[in-house]
Order: sequence, then structure tokens, then C-alpha cells
Amino acid sequence: MNIKTTKKNINDILLTDYDVMIIPCHKGIPLFPCIFNKLTTKKNNIKKILKKRNYSGEKDEKIHLINTFETDVILISCGKVINNSSLENAFAIGVREAIKNNYKNLLVFSDINYTNLNNYESYIIRGSIWGSYRFDNFKTNKKLSIILNIAHEKSSLNQINFGLIQGKILHKIADLANSPANFATPSYIGKYAKKLVKKGFEVEVLKEKELKEKKCGGILSVAHGSINEPNLVILKKIAKNNISPIIIVGKTVTFDSGGISLKPSKDLGWMRYDKCGGMAVLGLMEILSHLNTNRTIIGILGIAENMPGGKATKPGDIITSHNGKTIEILNTDAEGRLILADALSIASKFNPEYIIDIATLTGAVISTLGNSAAGILGNDKKLINSLQKSGIETDEKLWELPIYKDFIDDMKSDFADLSNMSKSGNAGTATAAAFLSSFVSDKVAWAHIDIAGMAWRTKNSDIQDAGATLFGIRLILNWLLKNSIIK
Ligand code: BES
Ligand code: ZN
Ligand code: ZN
Repeated sequence: MNIKTTKKNINDILLTDYDVMIIPCHKGIPLFPCIFNKLTTKKNNIKKILKKRNYSGEKDEKIHLINTFETDVILISCGKVINNSSLENAFAIGVREAIKNNYKNLLVFSDINYTNLNNYESYIIRGSIWGSYRFDNFKTNKKLSIILNIAHEKSSLNQINFGLIQGKILHKIADLANSPANFATPSYIGKYAKKLVKKGFEVEVLKEKELKEKKCGGILSVAHGSINEPNLVILKKIAKNNISPIIIVGKTVTFDSGGISLKPSKDLGWMRYDKCGGMAVLGLMEILSHLNTNRTIIGILGIAENMPGGKATKPGDIITSHNGKTIEILNTDAEGRLILADALSIASKFNPEYIIDIATLTGAVISTLGNSAAGILGNDKKLINSLQKSGIETDEKLWELPIYKDFIDDMKSDFADLSNMSKSGNAGTATAAAFLSSFVSDKVAWAHIDIAGMAWRTKNSDIQDAGATLFGIRLILNWLLKNSIIK
């Protein structure tokens, strides 16, 4: 895909230069007054056409106007409310619709006439670029060849560039997230992270030897059955001040077979997406590298492959995690929490103000919230509320579940400090979070986001193909920006 940007007044744009233009609508009215005039001065009156077609302006409603104006037009409704995320989604849907209809030379105009919004241009661009994403790295026929033309007049260059940067990073991270486990191995992801040194990060990649030295028994036990050694990545964007850091931790299991507690083979191929928490952290950090941040931000990825094998951890084995607590492993499929136990213990040592972890942790969250929201749990109501608010703003919903003392008790083992399975077998998402709470200092505001139902889609939808959604990147970025946690 080729992206071209031009600064031009809409009236100076020669529409015949393009195959199709994507236009967002609100209540059935196109959101560019000038293009509206331009289109309506012709013999075809856009308002009349929409009326004739009974265009009601419902959410995501699409309409194609072909051979009506100098260029074909795809109108997408933003639904009842216009905000940054409804605009972003409308453009993603519009671009997908254009590609589906074999248009090659697409035009997007990034200024709209809607005074209640500002800094929306980067969302229009991020959405348009996300809509053009295809995962075809492993197809022998060539990549989709389209030109995405972004024209703008009033938009600030900062906004344009921020949208472009984010869109391109989302593509790269989606390529990594969608890559199968025989390519995206722990060391492959470790190497990707290492390259971020060039973008101003301090990067540590701890391998088996260093993990042994640091007594990270959790992540090591997960990787035992695999020929691929684990990597624990610590990415630091350092601000030279004493403000306590913010840490984002991601579960990055490149393939979760379940280990000795082997999963059934049906749908097992999707378990390559068990790395998506880490993918969100990586994408977020790479975007942050393009911003001036006024405090230190640390991203941690615990990367391992969970496989059965002669050396694999067995149910009943007891390990010691980085913070010294012992864990009886009763089910090797509950591996994410073992990795997070080490990663959260490491995170706690930096004395952060906030720790947010993001993980495809439990099947139970899918039983609870389906594919409509991620679960959020933690020890700080304010943090949870502000993340939920951010989730509404970015259309990535978070629903809170409780961590009751009962759940903490439920995770105690008869033979070690903790067990990785609850005794009751109930409240799978909350007992997993209760387990994690043992590895976070009470002094730190901590939130755990369980994205098992949100990290990927098994079917194509209006907004994207089947595959990684990159849930969490937009949400946490928005949280950092809106709460002035970073500038
Ligand atoms: N990676 C899975 C959770 C998962 C399941 C994510 C389905 C996405 C879709 C996790 O490692 C796991 O297997 N959890 C177990 C825990 C159980 C054994 C206590 C689960 O949820 O079944
Ligand atoms: Zn598992
Ligand atoms: Zn897993």
C-alpha cells in the first residue's frame, strides 16, 4: 500500500484523479460542507439521492454513489454520535468497502466541519490506514496494491503525522501478531523489541540464562517443554526526572498448546494469538517513541511458548517465582499467570505509580463478556474507572469484575504458597486476577485487563478481517493522553 498526503483546498482537488472518495456522514449529511457544495452543484443533488435511497444515517450504514459525480463516492454513517472513535471506525469501514469493491486509488479528506471535535484528524487517518490492512505476508500473490490519498487543508501537520505514524505501526504490529508461531517465536519478538533501541528506548532482553539468574521460575517453567527459549523484554522510555514510572505488562505466549494439560485440538490454531497482550504493549511503546513523554514509561513482555514435551512442567510441580513465592502448578494450561507472576514482580521493583497488565488470560472472560468487552480487575478504583472511561472513548469496552478475598483464598495451595488453579473451579477470570494480585505491591495502583475475548476475531467483519484486533493500544494510548499522564 502506498500512502500519499497533499495539502489542498477541497475545491482545488480534481476528483477525476481518484477512483473513489470516502465521505463520513452524520444524520445523512456529508461532513464536508465544501465537498457537499461541490457535489451538489452538479446536476445530481446528493441530498435528493440520499432521500430517494431512504438513507437513515444509522451506525455504519454504507451507501455507494457510482457514476453520479466526477468520482465514485462511498458514504459511511458515523451513527448517532460523532466522536473520534465513531469517525475512526467510519473511515476504516469506508476504506475496507472501497477495497472490497476493487477501487485502487482512494481519496480521504481529513478535515470535517464538525466544531465539537478537535484533534480528530489523526483518528481519521489511523482509521483509514487500519481499514486498508490485510495480512497477506504468507500469500504467494502480491500484496494488495492501493493508493490511499490523504488530502487536508486545515489539519495541523502534527495531527496528520501522528495519524500516519500510528497507522503504520498498527500495520507492523498486526503483521507480528498475525504471524504464526513458527515465525513469531519468542526470540523473533525479542529481536523486534531490541530494534526499538533505534527509537530511543533502553531495551533489555532476558534469555534463559538471565532468567535463571533472576530466579524467574514462572516464565521458565512455561517454556520448559518448548525448543524455543523464553525472552523477557524490558523496554524503557526514560524521562530524566524522579516521577515514578508507569509500567505496562503484556502476556506474550507465542503458542499456547496447554502444555501437558493439552488443549483439545479444535480451534487450537488460534492460540498463536495468545501473544496479543504483549503485542499491545509493543505497539503502544513504539507509538510512544514518537511522543515527548514527561515521565518514564516501561513496557514489559513475558514471551514464551507453552508446549508439552519430555522437559515440560508437569501438573503437581512446584516452582518459585521472581518474588520468592512458591507456586504449585496444577494445570499447565494456566500458564499466563505464571509468566505474569514474574513480570509483575519485576515491574513492582521499579516503584511505579501504575502497573497495567494486559493478557489473553482466561477462557472464562469469554463466557462472561463474550466478544463484546474485556474484563478489568485491580486494586485501585480510580485507575479502573479512568481506564473504563478511556475504553468508552476508544470503543474498546472494559467491564469490571471483583477481586474478593474469597478468590484470594481460593488460590492458596496445600503444598506451596499458591496454586495456579482455583480450588473451586469457579470465577475463572477473577480468581486468575486474585492470583496476580500476590505479585503486585499494595502500594502500586494496578489494573489487569483480560482480553481473551477481544484480542482477535475469527471472522471478517465490516471493520477488519479475521485476525488480531490490537485491542488495548488505542485504549491505553488514549488513557495516557487524556489523563495528562504523558504529554
Ligand atoms: N490462553 C488461555 C486463555 C484463552 C482461552 C484465551 C481462549 C483466548 C481464548 C489461557 O492460558 C488458559 O488456557 N487459561 C485456562 C485457565 C484454566 C486452566 C485455569 C482457561 O481459561 O481455561
Ligand atoms: Zn493456557
Ligand atoms: Zn494462554
